[in-house]
Formats: sequence, structure tokens, C-alpha cells
Amino acid sequence: MVLKNNTLHSNENSRLKSVGRFFREAFTIDFNKPLSIKNQFMVMFVTLFISTVLFGVLCFINNTQVAEPPKQPAKPTAVQSQKQTSRQESSQKVILNTELMKKVDIISLPYEEIHNGELILVNKEHQCTHNGESVVSLLNVKTGTYVVADASVSVDQGIVDNVNHMFDDFYDIYGESKVMIACGYRSSELQSELYEAETDREGEDTADIWVAPPGYSEHQTGYAFDLDLMVEDGGIGIDYDGKGNYSWLNENCCQYGFIVRYLEGKENITGYEYEPWHFRYVGVPAATYIMENELTLEEYMDTVQKYSIQKPLMIKGINDEVWYTYYVPAQEKDKTEVPVPQNYSYTISGDNFSGFIVTVTIS
Ligand code: DAL
Ligand code: ZN
Repeated sequence: MVLKNNTLHSNENSRLKSVGRFFREAFTIDFNKPLSIKNQFMVMFVTLFISTVLFGVLCFINNTQVAEPPKQPAKPTAVQSQKQTSRQESSQKVILNTELMKKVDIISLPYEEIHNGELILVNKEHQCTHNGESVVSLLNVKTGTYVVADASVSVDQGIVDNVNHMFDDFYDIYGESKVMIACGYRSSELQSELYEAETDREGEDTADIWVAPPGYSEHQTGYAFDLDLMVEDGGIGIDYDGKGNYSWLNENCCQYGFIVRYLEGKENITGYEYEPWHFRYVGVPAATYIMENELTLEEYMDTVQKYSIQKPLMIKGINDEVWYTYYVPAQEKDKTEVPVPQNYSYTISGDNFSGFIVTVTIS
């Protein structure tokens, strides 16, 4: 048995040796002599082998690209969708950035203009200079999908469509129309009354973390409003907590240009406690970026200041919109020359303390 095995083994060995010799000789090519038949055969064999492997690899790559369908996540929230697309940005950035710079116009703006626009930052440090010049009562211009506390509830006329559209979409999804705008624009005098009343009731320390001092409330801009829930029997409203069905509003408001302004965990930045009912209009691009990155308006301002027209910040919307935004510092004594692209639509807003923010719609 052992012998038989040895014999088989030795036959195997000699066969392997002769195959090895064949290949060794075939691969040993002397380029000074014409190729032997064996060498010619090996060159053909190797060429054919490499071509077959390459062809196979190319077919595999091609099939993978065609066969894989685009991923369709089940009903993503605005923030989730945004996160999925942000990885695709870098290649587009180079092309569009060059395009943006090709032809620019210069817009000259006086220093006071830094106090105007949807991105003005109003907080304990930055006072609001507005007095309700462009606000409009919602009562006669609102749709029927939400309610207002009374005819005094007003917002900047430029955001009425955004407010209506947001509540219309909420109604389409949940069939609920008892969300109430309890308060929009507030004059400095009204803010003063509220602040004093809260101080009398709860003391100054509590008032300071819930109510802005007169002149320093976002409500004075006309871009902010507070939500409440209407009670059917006509009693006073119930505090809106942004939970349950209402979380849709708090999670999707950026699609309409709004942010929840006072975030949980960011009290040290905003200076106020979490207010799920307080919405602020900042425009769709800024709201999208702010919500995707879970920022406060203060943090967004810090971010945007790092970008110029030469190196703008790219923002992608949930419907594949692309915006570029950049900052231009204001000149206190002279007018500020703000470069804007000729071939794209854009908005310019003051930041209320140091300059201008240009937001360009690319697509
Ligand atoms: N509750 C916010 C901070 C205001 O009074 O404006
Ligand atoms: Zn508020």
C-alpha cells in the first residue's frame, strides 16, 4: 500500500516536472533569436488570458453600475435627506465655483443696510432696529389650515406665502387645523410690557431666560412667530410642544424657510431656554443648512463669515437644489461693494452687526 502510494507519487512528480520544464522554456525568451513555436504559443496564450480577464472586469463594473437602482429611503425627513446628499458635493463644487466667478456685478450698499434682511441676527447682544414697517395682519391673508389668535397677529409681508404653504402641507398630511399663531410681530413697547409682567411674576432671572428685553426680541423683526394649540370650546390655548403630529412642523419647517430658533442644549449660545413653539424665518437655504447641522442662528453666522465669493459655502436642498452663500464685510464709512454673479439669481441680507450675506441660487 505504501509502495503503491510512493509509485503514484513519483509518477506525479515526473509529470509535474515536465510541465514545469515546458513552461520554463516557453517563458525563457531570447530576443536576439526568432521566437520558437513554443514561445509564440506562450505569447499568444498570455495575451489572450490578460484580455479575457480585463474584459471580465470591465463587464462586471459596467453591470454593477447599471443594475443597482437609486436608493429610495422610506419617507426621509428633510434633515436625513440632506445628510445623504452632502457626500456628493465635492466634484460639483469645483465646476460651479468657477462658473459663479465668471461674470460679477457690484452692488453698492450703505452701512445701515446691514440691519435689513431675513438673516438679521437679533439676540441679547444685537438690537432690532425695525418697528413693524413691513408687517401685515395674517387674519385676511391666511389660508384656512391654521388659526391666528386675533387680528393683531402680524408677520413680515414677505413671509406670508411661506407661512401659508407650511400649514397647508401640514393639513394635507394630518388633516389638523387647530395650530394657532399666538403671536407674530411685537413692538418694543409690547415687549417691554411682557418683560415687566414676567419679571413681576417670576423674578428677573427667570424673565431673562424666557423673555427678551425690549428692543432685543426677534418678534420685533416680523420674521418670528409663536405657536399654540386652539381649544375647541374657546378657552385659552394649550402650549405647543412640537411633539406627536406637530413634530412634522418642527422637523420640516426648513423647507419653508423657518427654523426652531431656541434649541434644546444650545441655551448657552442663544441665551434662552428651549422654545419648540418659536419659529423664525431665515430663508430656505439658511434654514436647510442650520437644521441639517443642528445649528443656532448665531452659529450659522459664525460659519458663513468664513466664506467669500472666491470660496463660497455650498448648500444642497432636499430636492437637489444647490445654493452658494458667502459673506462680505461692511465698510462703516463708505458704501460696501458687494460682488454678485450676473448669471444667477441671489438675495442679499444684512447680518445686523458686521456685514452682508449673499445667497445665490445655482439650481
Ligand atoms: N421668548 C423670546 C426669547 C422673546 O421674548 O423674544
Ligand atoms: Zn417667540
